[in-house]
Amino acid sequence: MIIAVDGPLASGKGTIARQLAQCYTLPYLDTGLLYRACALGLLRAGKNPENPVAAQQSAMSVDGRSLTDPELRSALVGAAASKVAAIPAVRKALIKLQRDFARQKGGAVLDGRDIGTVICPHADVKLWVSAPPEERARRRCKELCDRGEDISYTQMLAQLVERDARDASRDDAPMLRAADAHLLNTDGLSIDAAFAVARRIVDAAKAELS
Ligand code: CDP
Repeated sequence: MIIAVDGPLASGKGTIARQLAQCYTLPYLDTGLLYRACALGLLRAGKNPENPVAAQQSAMSVDGRSLTDPELRSALVGAAASKVAAIPAVRKALIKLQRDFARQKGGAVLDGRDIGTVICPHADVKLWVSAPPEERARRRCKELCDRGEDISYTQMLAQLVERDARDASRDDAPMLRAADAHLLNTDGLSIDAAFAVARRIVDAAKAELS
């Protein structure tokens, strides 16, 4: 069973995807980390994340098995990731890795922006996870501050609005809800409550498959 979980920044998609993977014993890939790794490689080399040639090279050297550097989760890397993700050559360089991951025997859970539309258009279940911008900015700001990063709510909200706009308006694989994706609004829901909704959706899809 392939489960595609898409949605904007800090919508809760990562938490839900991770919990679904655990619940159904499926491998899990946070595809945002691939774009973040590409961006971090560029930043560390002192290169511009909007330089298509350098970004493509960096994308080609991303190793999907070592995405554990804590720096990958920083706001700075997130902002640069959204820039490299708008470059078609970068997306192309990262497609095979994601599709190979999804094709594993037994299936997989992938989360991102274009899983249900581009990477796995034939996924067995698709979720589109959302929440209002203010709520998402609050969550991400708390998450980053808890990790020791110095970022205000206002800065976070501004970055979120900019990233959402860039992700949704790029020509290649824009952030988009697939027509057949189930909408899961996590606004006001606890982590457990959001997961319970996701699980009901996946169980129903599983029942239809068998
Ligand atoms: O966790 P957060 O929502 O902040 O972002 P992420 O999932 O780590 O993704 C970082 C950036 O990578 C996003 O802003 C997108 O521009 C890009 N991305 C993408 O274009 N396609 C994906 N499948 C995953 C991420």
